[in-house]
Amino acid sequence: MALLQNHIAVVTGAGSGIGRAIASGYAREGARIVLLDINEKAAAEAAREIRDGNGSAESFALDVTRREDCIAVAKQVAAKVGPVSILVNNAGIARRNGMTGADAAVINDWEDIIAINLTGVFNVTHAFLPALRAGKGRIINIGSIQSFVHLRTPSSPAYTASKHGVLGFTKALAAELGKDGVRVNAIGPGFIETPLNEKVRASNPELAKVFIDHTPLGRAGKPEDIVGPAIFLASELSAYVSGSIVMVDGGYRTI
Ligand code: NAI
Repeated sequence: MALLQNHIAVVTGAGSGIGRAIASGYAREGARIVLLDINEKAAAEAAREIRDGNGSAESFALDVTRREDCIAVAKQVAAKVGPVSILVNNAGIARRNGMTGADAAVINDWEDIIAINLTGVFNVTHAFLPALRAGKGRIINIGSIQSFVHLRTPSSPAYTASKHGVLGFTKALAAELGKDGVRVNAIGPGFIETPLNEKVRASNPELAKVFIDHTPLGRAGKPEDIVGPAIFLASELSAYVSGSIVMVDGGYRTI
């Protein structure tokens, strides 16, 4: 039997990259998928692709920074699709300005990155929490190598702070929700080739090389590399796993 049969899975930022791959992978395992993205068109396209492959998928436009909209979408999903039992908090952005750049940029980066990567995770979790508790659900948050360290390849302090925050939030939720049968874990992707880093890969191939040279498996990741671990954490295969982060980084953090 498919591993996620009878589940309804919400994936944020599902119109692109890692979120899109997870949404398709969950659909292949029998889950009904709810794709949420600020980019309505991309989410709709990804949902159509799943339906074309005989999966079940609906898309809704959502900016995860808008708390009231998260609550409204959760109500719409409950009415139109049903009770959600899996939530993947994946939507995120990255910028590479340090703390000593132009003031306006530094402040702008802080506000946007924390709002999307950290408060967004809170907003969507909060909105779907009643359904997840009722259904003994699973929450999977997308962290990073930067849930542990800052990278010297250009990156912003806001990004590192946001991803440390995602891991802290994961632990806090796992501790509080375990008694309800809700499992909460994170995935820490390494350098994954997606539209998020497309520009930097094109303009600065040296940067990609620095990552790959440090990676025992000797290559960059693909969105598909995240799918197996994401299925594991959403399925009964991980029935006794909670509060963990599964690194999917080709071994980057070991050296
Ligand atoms: P991506 O740029 O391909 O996809 C991100 C998606 O999030 C896009 O569809 C975008 O429209 C959506 N999004 C952005 N802001 C949003 C908002 N306010 N509300 C709703 N949706 C919004 O990026 P990628 O690489 O797939 O990243 C997904 C997650 O993985 C992010 O949290 C990122 O920080 C994380 N990650 C990515 C790594 C990589 O190397 N690509 C490495 C480590 C973590």
